[in-house]
Amino acid sequence: MSVEATAPAAVIVLAAGAGTRMKSAKPKILHQIGGKSMVGHAIAAARGLDPERLVAVVRHERDRVAAHLLEIDPSLVIADQDEIPGTGRAVQVGLEALPEDLEGTVVVTYGDVPLLTGELLAELVAEHNAGGNAATVLSARLEDPTGYGRIVRDTDGSVAGIVEHKDASDEQRAIDEVNSGIYAFDAAVLRSALKQVTTENAQGEMYLTDVLSIARNDGGRVAAVVTEDPWQVEGANDRVQLAALGKELNRRTLTQWMRAGVTIVDPESTWIDVQVALSNDVTIKPGTQLHGHTAIGTDAVVGPDTTLTNVQVGPGATVTRTDATDSVIGANAKVGPFAYLRPKTDLGEDGKIGAFYETKNARIGKGSKLSHLGYSGDSVIGEYTNIGCGNITANYDGEKKHQTVIGSHVRTSSNTVFIAPVSVGDGAYTGAGAIVRKDVPAGALALSVAPQRNTEGWTEAKRPGSDSARAAAQASGQPASNS
Ligand code: UD1
Ligand code: CA
Repeated sequence: MSVEATAPAAVIVLAAGAGTRMKSAKPKILHQIGGKSMVGHAIAAARGLDPERLVAVVRHERDRVAAHLLEIDPSLVIADQDEIPGTGRAVQVGLEALPEDLEGTVVVTYGDVPLLTGELLAELVAEHNAGGNAATVLSARLEDPTGYGRIVRDTDGSVAGIVEHKDASDEQRAIDEVNSGIYAFDAAVLRSALKQVTTENAQGEMYLTDVLSIARNDGGRVAAVVTEDPWQVEGANDRVQLAALGKELNRRTLTQWMRAGVTIVDPESTWIDVQVALSNDVTIKPGTQLHGHTAIGTDAVVGPDTTLTNVQVGPGATVTRTDATDSVIGANAKVGPFAYLRPKTDLGEDGKIGAFYETKNARIGKGSKLSHLGYSGDSVIGEYTNIGCGNITANYDGEKKHQTVIGSHVRTSSNTVFIAPVSVGDGAYTGAGAIVRKDVPAGALALSVAPQRNTEGWTEAKRPGSDSARAAAQASGQPASNS
């Protein structure tokens, strides 16, 4: 294998542990940061190596974890760990799920180290291959190495093996170089060394770490790659660590976007999931959260105080104090302040959804405006239509939802209610307060409110002695009667 060819034969992701310190009904590795489960991040890093085969070892909450893994990555192989405990056994069952004669490099990593990148894994594999090593471990120097396995080195600096904290002498516990639990192995060495691993240790487990000293005693070269970035090998065991890792991941994501030409006014109050895509010259204002597969076009301004989940925002659009999900906002469109876009809202180019508008399954054409105070659901609106203040689509008859279809260049007056199913033709108008129960033909004016009739002197007659009656009398220049 050439030095350049870093793609390993297989990656084994260990994901059998219980994660009891999360105190959760949900398996630890399914908890999310940056819009993805911890194990989702681990799988993404592993896939970054472009391995021929990817195996995940499961046991705790087996069915739930396996279903999640196969949803993320249908081509990975699930291996079930049995009752024999330990990382060594986990890797052994992982190998058993692979071809017996598998050759080349096998990478082992964990399901709960979400900041690990494909780049760092590739560096590990490259070093491993370049040295022709039997085993290469990714290590880090930590201020507080308590609990971790320690990298034991010979006087010449070469890696002699790994000793677990619980098995370590005081002298070994003083070592600050720790085992991350992430390795590259030669497949044949790994397979044969694991046969020699026992459970004779402080925890009665099959330690994967024993493979290193076994390989070395068999004459193999064992080395360590020391990362300068301990975040990448840090696991989340409880929710405090989960939050810390989530914050650091977010900081890294924001830094990348700012370097790519995105203005983020306040990184402290901005949260962006890892799958979000931003163009250069996007501006993100404080208090904004971008989730899922949200994508934002160049020169768009989003925020302040906006949450977008799976929303496509076109170039030049502005989205202010808005909550939107599974929606499309066209180029140069304006949304908010205080708009609520529920799934399947599709606002055309130059369109507007203004203050206190709620939309759902609403296709709104180019240049059409819903500026103030209303609800538009299960609706199709043409181009350059102006929907007046307070318009509502009554889409629900108590049992079923129905559609409202409004044409292009329509003008609806304030407080129009569309009783769906109903349609309004191109260029039609509605009067204020119209309740549109019947289809409106193109170019028609729809009025449903009775003509106004004024009963002169009504207040004086019906509310004598009231403040209103006095005001009315004063306005008409007559003395008010007292009773
Ligand atoms: C292990 C290493 C230790 C290292 C540390 C880094 C061993 C013996 N020790 O510690 O040197 O510093 O990781 O975090 O390997 N797992 C299984 N099956 C098992 C046991 C564990 O799949 O039977 C998985 C867990 O889900 C987890 C990972 O392996 O993702 C590590 O397990 P954990 O118990 O946290 O690691 P330690 O054994 O404490
Ligand atoms: Ca651990």
